[in-house]
Amino acid sequence: MKKRLFTNIGELLQVREKTTNPLAGKEMSEVPSIENAWLLAEGNLIARYGKMDDLADVSDAERIDLSGRKVMPAWVDSHTHIVFAKSREEEFVMRLKGRSYEEIAASGGGILNSAKKLQQTSEDELYRSAEIRLNEVRALGTGAIEIKSGYGLTTDSELKMLRVIKRLRENYPDMPIKSTFLGAHALPVEYKERREDFIRLIIDEMLPKVAEQGLAEYCDVFCERGFFTYDETDRILQAAAKYDMKPKVHANELDYSGGVQVGVKNKAISVDHLEFVGKEELEALDGSGTMPTLLPSTAFFLDIDYAPARKIIDYGLPVAVASDYNPGSTPSGRMPLVMSLACIKMKMTPAEALNAMTINGAFAMEIEDKCGSITKGKLANLIVLNKEVPSLDFLPYAFGTDWIDEVYISGRKVG
Ligand code: NIG
Ligand code: FE
Repeated sequence: MKKRLFTNIGELLQVREKTTNPLAGKEMSEVPSIENAWLLAEGNLIARYGKMDDLADVSDAERIDLSGRKVMPAWVDSHTHIVFAKSREEEFVMRLKGRSYEEIAASGGGILNSAKKLQQTSEDELYRSAEIRLNEVRALGTGAIEIKSGYGLTTDSELKMLRVIKRLRENYPDMPIKSTFLGAHALPVEYKERREDFIRLIIDEMLPKVAEQGLAEYCDVFCERGFFTYDETDRILQAAAKYDMKPKVHANELDYSGGVQVGVKNKAISVDHLEFVGKEELEALDGSGTMPTLLPSTAFFLDIDYAPARKIIDYGLPVAVASDYNPGSTPSGRMPLVMSLACIKMKMTPAEALNAMTINGAFAMEIEDKCGSITKGKLANLIVLNKEVPSLDFLPYAFGTDWIDEVYISGRKVG
């Protein structure tokens, strides 16, 4: 087994002996670290680490001298839609001229526009473009990712998208990739006057096929004004549970949608977006085990209000932060920028943001035993920071600087 010994690490960030619970409230404000450290990766795993004063004697390891550069765990991006057929910059320009995201969606654009394109695109072509995006975010330090369907909206096209995710998973076994079925992403135009038929299609046809072919571990619903209601979400999540597909919910992005409550009711792994959060949402989340996941680059790109991260953390809850990389509301999977937005626009501290984007993200995709911290036995998914980085605080501060020097996924250098 290949051994790699990283020496002279200026600071090893996010070192945790155990990660049994998500970090909540005040716990999020601390990032434990070791200065002047070494780390031994054996094969794809972190084997040991310590201070340079007591460097392990591993003569059979390849030595990599980091000369004072800092190291942090790779990002865990727990919410993306990176399988899509085409970008949507024409809608971006429509929004610049004053039309809203909801108006564009209501007139057949938005998700339906992406679905039309995806239906006409071959599985190979979809794979090719998704792989480019995956490699793009790996180079930016993403070491684990969740990917959703939801631009198919017919049984065949949803299955096609999920097979693309499966193929990414097979071809990139070095990183955890979770697959989420999001058939209830938007109501196709032809179902406008017969919503119930589409819900039935999801429940009676799509879900059984997705389950039978083992294509998704999670089921998500866009529970939002103009998309799917509380009751529809509830029914779909309950149907998914029969196939052991755990829930995730797109909730409260454009209004108070009840998405948080219906997610919690169904024991969702996470409820995501949460631009609208009031007392009832906080109370529902409290003690629920459901991870509130915030997507600040979506609020940035749509120019809408940001999720009230402070309110959620100060209430004592955990928070995960992810990119939402997709063609309509966030055409970017750049986690360093997401970190800056989490701090600048949502007033999270750099430590809170780092925790939200690593260990809490890992909880939001149930890979806390593999990713999200420097811990013995976890994957050696590492970001080596540029030698100019003086502290963790510099990362969100220097929002235009490319401060990632090298990325290792499962112990191997990317790129
Ligand atoms: O997470 N909100 C719903 N779905 C995506 C956007 C989809 C799109 O506009 O293509 C999101 O923001
Ligand atoms: Fe999303």
